Amino acid sequence: MYPLLFRTVLARMDPETAHHAGMFVVRMLGVPPLSWAARALTRPDERLRTTALGLRFDSPFGVAAGFDKNVVGVAGLRALGFGHVEVGTVTAIPQDGNPRPRLFRLIPDRAVVNRMGFNNAGAEAAAKRLEKLRRRRRRAVVGVNIGKSRVVDVSEATADYVRSATLLAPLADYLVVNVSSPNTPGLRGLQAVETLRPLLSAVHDAAGATPLLVKIAPDLPDDEVEAVARLAVDLGLDGLIATNTTISRAGLSTPPAVVAAAGEGGLSGAPLRERSLAVLRRVRSVVPADFCVVSVGGVETAGDVRERLDAGADLVQGYTAFLYRGPLWARQINRGLRASARA
Ligand SMILES: Cc1cc2nc3c(=O)[nH]c(=O)nc-3n(C[C@H](O)[C@H](O)[C@H](O)COP(=O)(O)O)c2cc1C
Repeated sequence: MYPLLFRTVLARMDPETAHHAGMFVVRMLGVPPLSWAARALTRPDERLRTTALGLRFDSPFGVAAGFDKNVVGVAGLRALGFGHVEVGTVTAIPQDGNPRPRLFRLIPDRAVVNRMGFNNAGAEAAAKRLEKLRRRRRRAVVGVNIGKSRVVDVSEATADYVRSATLLAPLADYLVVNVSSPNTPGLRGLQAVETLRPLLSAVHDAAGATPLLVKIAPDLPDDEVEAVARLAVDLGLDGLIATNTTISRAGLSTPPAVVAAAGEGGLSGAPLRERSLAVLRRVRSVVPADFCVVSVGGVETAGDVRERLDAGADLVQGYTAFLYRGPLWARQINRGLRASARA
């Protein structure tokens, strides 16, 4: 059913408009009694429950950052079977992001290119919605991903991140420092260990008891992946998320003219799978067993999620395949995970 809807309707729509239409459905699914009905169909088997970061998750599979930038879809995403939702990226100062169009499908590769540029309503608006969410008795685990406001100079980045962390950490189940999106000038440069150390250290202080993670790019060379992972352990962070989107366009099947027309931005989806898995293995090889590693990038099937868990991920996230596989995606993954555990 969804493949037909995708081919005949969604693939003909502007991708960002299609995202807003999808988000409208997700929001509706978060409202009772629809949320109860959806939840009855999609509730993960209890044997998928897992603990990480001192938190209990209904399933190890969750929604990656960027899908719900403004904390409006958490209940609906839980109703679809996701075990956690990472909201954001949220910036201290509200911002519109880059001019549209800024989201492009590469259908033959089951991939997308985005240069959204952290469009979001800002940390104060996110805090208000998170406060409301915390009053719900049953809710998904909610991580909050924070990034640098575009108008703030890179040299002032620490204060900007600390502003968001101070406001949002008390309302988050876990907090993520995003230094890996390719669409904010200078952001990825913050991954260099000498700049990252003071930044993470200051945000760690601001986050208090809330678990803190750092999210890295797949384009870092292996030695830098290891250096950032070791730094995170050194500073007493709770985990690392690998990976964000890539600036590489290698190995694509989409016609080069279509890829060129999409222009700059981060590539996500199936082409990221191999590198994301390799980065997970690198990170896991240098961090202790109790350090949480979240794997994201190119995950499409329950087999992919199982592979990440077997490679040492504590949690797995996805985004792009949700666009291609539709609303039952998390349910399919959860069912497949359950079946593979039984086999
Ligand atoms: C449209 C879009 C927007 C995104 N926005 C963010 C973001 O705001 N912050 C972030 O950390 N990652 C963002 N990401 C990256 C995803 O969280 C994820 O790391 C990446 O897409 C790889 O996973 P996937 O292959 O399952 O999509 C975005 C991805 C997409 C496709």
